[in-house]
Amino acid sequence: MAVVSVLSLKGGVGKTSVVLGLAGAATVRGLASLVIDLDPQGNATSLLKSHRSRRTVTDVLGHPTRETIEDALTSCDWEVAPGEVDVLPGDGGAIRFDAWSGGPWRPKLARALRQLEGYDLVFIDCPPSLGALTREALAASDLALVVTTPSYFGAQGVERAMAEIAEVRKEFNPGLELAGIVINRVRSAAEEHEFREREMAQIYGRAAVFKPVLPDRIAVQQAEGYGLPIQLVKTAGGRELSDIFDTYLTRLQRLARRRET
Ligand SMILES: Nc1ncnc2c1ncn2[C@@H]1O[C@H](COP(=O)(O)OP(=O)(O)OP(=O)(O)O)[C@@H](O)[C@H]1O
Ligand SMILES: [Mg+2]
Repeated sequence: MAVVSVLSLKGGVGKTSVVLGLAGAATVRGLASLVIDLDPQGNATSLLKSHRSRRTVTDVLGHPTRETIEDALTSCDWEVAPGEVDVLPGDGGAIRFDAWSGGPWRPKLARALRQLEGYDLVFIDCPPSLGALTREALAASDLALVVTTPSYFGAQGVERAMAEIAEVRKEFNPGLELAGIVINRVRSAAEEHEFREREMAQIYGRAAVFKPVLPDRIAVQQAEGYGLPIQLVKTAGGRELSDIFDTYLTRLQRLARRRET
């Protein structure tokens, strides 16, 4: 079971879209995945039309036992045969775990996740900050995927995210590995974007940047509007993005397998 955190310092860069794109790609392949919504905004929970569960991620953080996490898991409306997507729903209450309450900090989600099995992949959708909730995600993960848009502040945000990953690796989770950087909403005609892409490859190494980059396509909003995975948006843009998410999934699985050996 590979656990992948999708994070960024900046808001609105496409973390949730990437999580849902990857979960959709996994279902098309017949895999069982779990989406954990750690963002108090609860966007992934509502886009997936997660079914009601007795508990949410807030309860799991408050009481990280096997019982609580199993009570919180639920199915959702995303039926892309032949796979399955389950959700650990998020809610606004999680915000209280985003601040340090003083005293030594201990990972809670990691503790609960260790007792869970039965999924091929787990994707954690992080809030747009590098606070304690994102730290919870990183402490529980095998791989970290940083999302950014091709902009000056985007590049700065990536740097801060990388520092946070290094910190969590050192303090809490020696097994944590950077999966790479996803550059989203690229409008290829804009020179600034190409410049940022090149700059990103120079700073973090060509290998770290996921290829191909994700283009800006209306299909993302269509998928949201219809409440469907992008894989079911049968337009040129929908197919283009679905193919890219499938490529990303292959890369993540390869990284996860390499870690196991
Ligand atoms: N490749 C894309 N093409 C077009 N629109 C996109 C693309 N990726 C994301 N968007 C749009 O950008 C907006 C923000 O995306 P998303 O919610 O995935 O970002 P986020 O990083 O999860 O945001 P937050 O930080 O608030 O959680 C959404 O309205 C989404 O439809
Ligand atoms: Mg989001």
